[in-house]
Amino acid sequence: MALPIFTERLVLRPYEAGDLEQLHAVLYSDVDAMRLLGGPRDLAGTRFALERSMTQQEITGFSFWPVIERESGLLVGEAGMFPLSPDGPDVALGYAFGARWWGRGYATEASRAVIDEAFGELGMERLVAITREANLGSRHVLEKLGFRMEGVRHVWGAEQLFFVLDRDLAQFPAPE
Ligand SMILES: CC(C)(COP(=O)(O)OP(=O)(O)OC[C@H]1O[C@@H](n2cnc3c(N)ncnc32)[C@H](O)[C@@H]1OP(=O)(O)O)[C@@H](O)C(=O)NCCC(=O)NCCS
Repeated sequence: MALPIFTERLVLRPYEAGDLEQLHAVLYSDVDAMRLLGGPRDLAGTRFALERSMTQQEITGFSFWPVIERESGLLVGEAGMFPLSPDGPDVALGYAFGARWWGRGYATEASRAVIDEAFGELGMERLVAITREANLGSRHVLEKLGFRMEGVRHVWGAEQLFFVLDRDLAQFPAPE
């Protein structure tokens, strides 16, 4: 696994236990960021998510990864992949940033790096993504990345739009 991954403005690296406070402050306690993701978490909820990513990373070599802004060195969100269900086979792209960092193209930039990793180093044939219908920003990110919408599924406790990106149809490696 080729972590850390450097993009023009961001770094994606594995989670460490010491990321807890910053992850919580920046993302999981942010009411706006968590509005369409089941609401803000308390610190125990953030710890659960962090530990789940660390365990997933050990098992499969991928997970959600903290996204660090290179200029400031701050953790600004997370992006990466997670199995859609424990039975497989689909792996879902995911991303979320603290509201302060929206509108800068970070979700698109980080996702392009995740897609390169999925179809390159990890040899996946397709990635999926889910998002709520009301999440217009996320839907736009997926469209920019070349995902196509394939209907609605009940996933992770909610009705979600289901998107697919096949390796053959992806802009991979990402355009400069
Ligand atoms: C969705 C999210 C990840 C987008 O992050 P971001 O870094 O702002 O995304 P980008 O800047 O790369 O791209 C967003 C695009 O959607 C557009 N957009 C944002 N909000 C929009 C809205 N309400 N309606 C229509 N388009 C919207 C932006 O203009 C941009 O498009 P452009 O590049 O053509 O101008 C961010 O808002 C977020 O973290 N939300 C909370 C967590 C979340 O919902 N994650 C997704 C779970 S499926």
